[in-house]
Amino acid sequence: MNVLVVGGAGYIGSHCVRQLIAAGHRPVVLDNLVYGHRRAVPTELPFYAANLGDAETLKTILRKESIEMVMHFAAYCYVGESVTAPLKYYENNVSATLRLLGAMLEVGVKKFVFSSTCATYGSPDHLPMTEDLPQAPINPYGQTKLDVENVLKALATAHGLSFAAFRYFNAAGASEDGAIGEDHNPETHLIPLAIDAAVGKRPNLQIFGTDYPTPDGTCLRDYVHVDDLSRAHIAVFPKLGEPGQRYFYNLGTGKPFSVREIIRAVEKITGRKIPVIESPRRAGDPAALYADSSKVQRELGWKVKFPDAESIIATAWRWHSGHPNGYGDEA
Ligand code: UFG
Repeated sequence: MNVLVVGGAGYIGSHCVRQLIAAGHRPVVLDNLVYGHRRAVPTELPFYAANLGDAETLKTILRKESIEMVMHFAAYCYVGESVTAPLKYYENNVSATLRLLGAMLEVGVKKFVFSSTCATYGSPDHLPMTEDLPQAPINPYGQTKLDVENVLKALATAHGLSFAAFRYFNAAGASEDGAIGEDHNPETHLIPLAIDAAVGKRPNLQIFGTDYPTPDGTCLRDYVHVDDLSRAHIAVFPKLGEPGQRYFYNLGTGKPFSVREIIRAVEKITGRKIPVIESPRRAGDPAALYADSSKVQRELGWKVKFPDAESIIATAWRWHSGHPNGYGDEA
């Protein structure tokens, strides 16, 4: 299948591109390279440096490359920034996505895979989290993703769009061969920050909150390997054959790990001590988020290859060791 991967030079998108190739598909990548990295995309693939909201360019690409399906990863994803700069989030994550969807429908491309998030649930009143929990985001980032989910439902009804929305828990890790990995600027995620602190690139790691109602007082999260996430996106293809299909899946391993457990696992994998500072809670962090992923296992036959924090962190460490300055290292 010819698949346009919007945001294909970003962290999750670039891993999905490699999984698409491995599964025999033909990815075409579009990325404006604001946060993405050209070097994360194989040079032999068609690559368009363009904005997802540029409908005219999109229509040209969709036609020229005979695109049959679009995967959309191009979102701003900093929860804190979404609170202070909501317009930036609504413009990119919602308005530009509407223009992408409009271009697709005009050209007649009606299959869509969307990167959604567990942040659409807000602070859940039930754990582990199933897909039928109420969606009540507590920040604009989560709200923008929920808004798009709702638009997709309307387009399925009105125009026969077939789509799958995957609600990710904490994407982590890097490709097994260490060729591509996580390189955010700024970096806010726990595992890469812990690795940076372990190797002395940062003086320490702050633990945001030690007084949560959890076994060791720190937040519980569900870390899921980026290649496991990517495989689910491809496993859903056969379900999108008929018009008007709609699917929502949580993607997590279902196993919660605390911040302290992650720190210990990073110390074990790297063989180095992480200097930690116990700090106040970070605004907007729910105490515990972890998935019930039985639906995606049952319906898509999804199985995780990286079931625990250590196996995920080992891949992140391989990437980091080979690329201590991320993509900036490469010529
Ligand atoms: N944490 C620290 N210190 C740090 C960084 C993070 O203690 O320096 C903690 C956080 O407080 C949180 C956990 O580590 O408890 C994980 O934090 P991340 O920033 O790595 O990830 P989040 O859980 O905040 O974010 C993820 C996704 C978002 C999504 C959000 C939903 O990356 O896209 O879950 O809550 F919106």
